[in-house]
Amino acid sequence: MKCTKCGGVAVINMPQHRLKLCAEHFKEWVLSMVQRTIKRYRMFGPKDRILVAVSGGKDSLSLWDILIRLGYQTEGLYINLGITHENYSDVSQEYAEAFAAAHDAPLHIVNVRETYGQGIPDLAHTGRGKRMCSVCGLVKRHIMNRIAYEGGYAAIATGHNLDDEVAVLLQNTLHWQGGYLKRQAPVLPSTHPRLARKVKPLCHLYERETAAYALVQGIAFVEQECPYSVNAKTIFYKQILNQLERRSPGTKMQFYLGFLRAKEEGLFCLDEPEKELTWNTCRKCGQPTTAGDLCAFCRLWEKQKHPA
Ligand code: AMP
Ligand code: FES
Ligand code: ZN
Ligand code: ZN
Repeated sequence: MKCTKCGGVAVINMPQHRLKLCAEHFKEWVLSMVQRTIKRYRMFGPKDRILVAVSGGKDSLSLWDILIRLGYQTEGLYINLGITHENYSDVSQEYAEAFAAAHDAPLHIVNVRETYGQGIPDLAHTGRGKRMCSVCGLVKRHIMNRIAYEGGYAAIATGHNLDDEVAVLLQNTLHWQGGYLKRQAPVLPSTHPRLARKVKPLCHLYERETAAYALVQGIAFVEQECPYSVNAKTIFYKQILNQLERRSPGTKMQFYLGFLRAKEEGLFCLDEPEKELTWNTCRKCGQPTTAGDLCAFCRLWEKQKHPA
């Protein structure tokens, strides 16, 4: 297999882009693809300080690597969720720390058990499944917003790739989740001065491209999946989408870009302006909330102290 650009040995075949690339041209291609995505969606500029949320996995560490190489000002954030099964959280943290040390890049670490008293599995003690992931998502969002606000970052960047986005899109479309479809986008604007803007610079890269990038760049990442995500529905949707992609290369990208275009054109009326939200300030942590006087995060910990 020959590189389309230089005729050297190709390390990856990307039929969806009609490209086969050698390691050097592939690295170059990934950087320019991400740079184009950042510009296309006006994610941030060279003067902005970006907080990169890193899980220790291939996507977020590749993202951090790419942003550093593109010359952006970045700092990392790793949230240790206290998942002790197979030492998942501590092992993941070691990968994030090793990357930061090797790149001489600042990394902020928040240990949920040490900071708040309990890890995610104890907090969501109902066991595996949906509850664990939704509690985990809520805790991660809260901490990301807190650190971004305290540090005055312009945006939080996450490692969501095209496969992640398209799996969520399929799930939301199958259930016609209008509200979720409306909010799914490469950039989630800040809705309150204390809630950070969120960006997904890898949203045009296939998962196998981010994995290949980590390999050719020699990035060490945690290969274990979160022990609670094994049964996640999105994995099933990803498998179905992989079948479609094999039959017809480019399907995932077309589905995603077609959706964004349709939204822009006002199809499904998903682009109507959001209703004005009424914000309260959480009496415990000070973050804005649309519910009562305690935010969802603080309510979670209160419930833990006083179970029904
Ligand atoms: P996930 O929700 O696990 O699919 O992860 C999506 C993105 O969220 C990752 O690419 C990271 O950018 C971020 N993320 C996930 N887990 C963590 C974590 N423990 N600490 C910081 N960021 C995370
Ligand atoms: Fe949060 Fe798995 S990473 S439940
Ligand atoms: Zn080449
Ligand atoms: Zn709160």
